Amino acid sequence: MTDSLSVRQSLIYSVSAVAGVGLVSYIVYRYRCRVPRWDRPINPSIRKDEKKVGDVFDIEDLMKTLEPGQKISLCRCWRSKKWPYCDGLHKDHNICTGDNVGPVNIIRKKQSRQE
Ligand code: FES
Repeated sequence: MTDSLSVRQSLIYSVSAVAGVGLVSYIVYRYRCRVPRWDRPINPSIRKDEKKVGDVFDIEDLMKTLEPGQKISLCRCWRSKKWPYCDGLHKDHNICTGDNVGPVNIIRKKQSRQE
């Protein structure tokens, strides 16, 4: 009788532990992956006071800021905390949504034609 009670208690503890871990994992997943719905804007927080967010970059000025072989990465997922530059948050976005977005990389060649 004591052995069967002990087995039953072990089983209850095990099931409770697995359920607890599953519940915590689900809560962490839901917190981390707040999946946007289609009726929400793609831009959740960047320059929301503006009617339209559009930017123009002068490629010549941009190239002056880069050393040969250096690159800059521009965000396309609208999740970066360093927007307009990519900070890698697109990886979390892709994991949570199944999306496949990534940055635009602009690279200055190691040796340009003029040199
Ligand atoms: S953080 Fe947006 S593309 Fe990398």
